[in-house]
Amino acid sequence: MLQKKDKEPQKISAIILAAGKGTRMSTPLAKVLHPVAGVPMVQRVIKACKDAGASDVRIVVGHNAQLVKTVVQPLAVTCFEQLKQLGTADAVKSAHLDSLEGLVLIINGDHPLIESSDIEKCVKIFQDENLDIAVVTAKVKDPGSFGRIIRQHGKLHSIVEAKDASHETLKINEINTGFYIATSEALQEILPKIKNNNSQQEFYLTDMISIGLELGYKVNAIEGDAHIAMGVNTQEELAKATRFAFKRKAKELMSDGVMILDPTHTYIEESVCVGPASVIYPGVYLRGTTEIGSFCALEPNCYIIDCEVGDSVQIKAGSYLERSQINDNASVGPYARLRPETIIGEKAQVGNFVEMKKVKFGKESKAGHLTYLGDAEIGEQVNIGCGTITCNYAVDKKKYKTKIGDRVFVGSDTQFIAPIEIGSDAVIGSGSTITKDVPARSLAVARGKQIIKEDYIKIEESNSQEQLNVENKK
Ligand code: UD1
Ligand code: CA
Repeated sequence: MLQKKDKEPQKISAIILAAGKGTRMSTPLAKVLHPVAGVPMVQRVIKACKDAGASDVRIVVGHNAQLVKTVVQPLAVTCFEQLKQLGTADAVKSAHLDSLEGLVLIINGDHPLIESSDIEKCVKIFQDENLDIAVVTAKVKDPGSFGRIIRQHGKLHSIVEAKDASHETLKINEINTGFYIATSEALQEILPKIKNNNSQQEFYLTDMISIGLELGYKVNAIEGDAHIAMGVNTQEELAKATRFAFKRKAKELMSDGVMILDPTHTYIEESVCVGPASVIYPGVYLRGTTEIGSFCALEPNCYIIDCEVGDSVQIKAGSYLERSQINDNASVGPYARLRPETIIGEKAQVGNFVEMKKVKFGKESKAGHLTYLGDAEIGEQVNIGCGTITCNYAVDKKKYKTKIGDRVFVGSDTQFIAPIEIGSDAVIGSGSTITKDVPARSLAVARGKQIIKEDYIKIEESNSQEQLNVENKK
C-alpha cells in the first residue's frame, strides 16, 4: 500500500461533522439540513469535498440521524452515527479512523460556503509545506464564538475556544474555521489522546493542534478566505450565508454577460445556467436545474423551478413556472402559471392568468387570457380564446386528454369536455361546451339559443320617479 502511495497522487478522504443539534436554529430540523440558496448545508460541503477530489466521504450523523442519512446517502457517502454528542473530536473518532488512508479533510457541516477551490488551495499548501496537520484560519472583524488561534512568536501554538478564553485571548481576531487537513497517521495517533478537561467537558478537536505539536508533528495554520469562516449557528447567519451565495452567483453570471438589474434582489441558485445578454429584473427567483438561454427577459417576480427556457424568450412579470420547457421566441405572462410537463412551442404566446398543466402547446399558438389547459395537446397556430377551459378531471377521478389540431380557432368561453379531439382548421363558436369530437375544417357551436322577448320591461310614469316593473315570466 505504501508503494502505491508513492506512485499515485495521495488519496483524499473527508470527514464531515453533522451530528450536532443546532439548538440556536430554533427549529426541529437538524442544523446541517437547513438550506442555503436551496441546497442543504451538508450537501454543499459534500459537493465541495468531492469536487476537490475526496473519494471517501464520511458523514458523522447524530441528531435527526435518519433524516440526515436520507438526504446524504444518495450522494454516495458513508454515514457514521455518533450516539452522544460529546464534542467535535469524539465526532471525528466515530468515523472509524482505522480504515482511513492518505490525506483527511475534516470539515464542520455548518460552514456552507466553502468551495472545492478553497479546499484545493489549502491541500496544495499542505502538500507543498509537507505538513502533517493544518488548521484553516481566517481573520474576521467579529470573532464572536469562534475558537481563537494562539500564536507564540508568530508560530501556531494552539486553539482556545471562546468559552474557555481569557479576556485578552478573546481579542484575537484570527479564528478557527473548523476546516482541518491531516494525514491519516497523525489523526490515528492524536485523536485517542484528546481529553475533555475543559469548561464544556467536551472532546475538542481543536486540541489536535497543541497535541500534534507536542508529539513533534509538522503543524501549521493555513489562512483561508473569509467566506470559509461563515458558519451557521442561527437563522440570521443562515440568511447571511444565503445572501452571500446568491450574490456570488449573480456576480459570476454578470461576468458572463447576463444583465442583472439589481443583484441584491435577485435569487439565483448556483445550479442554474443563464445565457449572455439575458436581462433579469429584480425579484426573479431561479431554482434547481433551470436553464435560461440568451437574449431572454425575465421580468420582476418570476419564480422558475427546473425549467428549460430557450433563446429570446420573454417571461413577463409575476409568472410561476415549474418543470416546463419554453422554446425560442415564446412569451409567457404576465401572471402565467406553467405546471410540470408543459412544453411551449417556438413563438407561442401565453398571456395573463393562463394556467397550463401537462400541455404540449404548438409553435405560434396563442392563449392570451384567463384560460386553463390541462392534459392537452394543442397544434400549431392555434388561437385559444379568453376563458377557455379543458375539463380534464372527471367524476371518476381520472384525467382525460384534449387534442386540438393545427390552426384551430377556439372562441372565447369554451369548455372542452375531455376526452375530446378537434380536427385541424376547425372553428369553435364562443361560449360552446364541446362534448363530441369536431372534424377538421368544420364549425362547432354548442350553446343555448338566444331568445328575444320584446317589450319584456314595461316603463310606467309615476309622480316623480320612473318605476320598473318586471313581467312575471309564467
Ligand atoms: C467549532 C470549533 C471552533 C471553531 C468553530 C467554527 C471545536 C471544539 N470548536 O466550534 O474552534 O471556531 O467550530 O465554526 O471544535 N458536531 C458533531 N458532534 C459533536 C459536536 C459537534 O458532529 O459532538 C458537529 C456539529 O454538527 C457542527 C460541527 O461539529 O457541524 C461544529 O460543532 P459546533 O458545536 O457548531 O462547534 P462550535 O462551537 O461552532
Ligand atoms: Ca458552529
